[in-house]
Amino acid sequence: MSEDFHLVRVAEKLSLKRVDAADSSAVAVDFSAPALNYRVASAVKQQGLSKAVGIKGSSRPSVLDATAGFGKDAYFLASQGCEVTMVERDPLVFALLNDGLMRGLASPQSAVGDACRRLTLLNRDFVELKSDTLSGLGSVDVVYLDPMFPESKKSARVKKDMFALQELLGAADDGDALWHHACAIACRRVVVKRSKSAPALGNRVPDIQYKGSSSRFDVYLTPKP
Ligand SMILES: C[S@@+](CC[C@H](N)C(=O)[O-])C[C@H]1O[C@@H](n2cnc3c(N)ncnc32)[C@H](O)[C@@H]1O
Repeated sequence: MSEDFHLVRVAEKLSLKRVDAADSSAVAVDFSAPALNYRVASAVKQQGLSKAVGIKGSSRPSVLDATAGFGKDAYFLASQGCEVTMVERDPLVFALLNDGLMRGLASPQSAVGDACRRLTLLNRDFVELKSDTLSGLGSVDVVYLDPMFPESKKSARVKKDMFALQELLGAADDGDALWHHACAIACRRVVVKRSKSAPALGNRVPDIQYKGSSSRFDVYLTPKP
């Protein structure tokens, strides 16, 4: 699918664009974007994600975002004070994320730079992460999963960047493998983002659910000694 897309520089940002489309359709990772930072500041909008990973009082769990994509959820969690390892397997998406992270680290906005310093990025397939890499990450409290799932119908609410990702990557079929590997790694919980009315991943009943207006977070507790 990726021969239809290429990476171009648009206004100094590495951007993903359909080969036959205008520059205005290109999408990039921009951690300084006002809309993203509004979402970060608007705690109510993101209450579900904060609660799902276990942010409470002064507790800030370490998170491994196994399906990083454009890094928005990871950036939100880092802005709340969590140390987040982002894992992204697709080379084009990884390149966008890496470019966005470099610009975020150099941002004159201190809140953006501070959040980006809590982000680490790996270009790997999460399912293939072995114990040598994992031991270098330290303890992982939470593994967060937001894989690409087939939409039951086209939704007008799918944002431009997510639409581009869907077109580039198609739907994932490794949800089960992601879930099992996540459960083997997470010291406290695995959090799966789902669209509001989608069935639970593998139809496994979650221990806790947090519902938002368009998505929900299914939490699987993973007690370990
Ligand atoms: C829906 S997007 C994630 C969006 C992300 N939560 C955000 O806030 O931008 C899913 C991403 O997961 C990546 N992905 C899917 N399976 C993966 C795996 N096994 N290992 C690493 N990345 C994976 C895909 O390449 C895609 O970029």
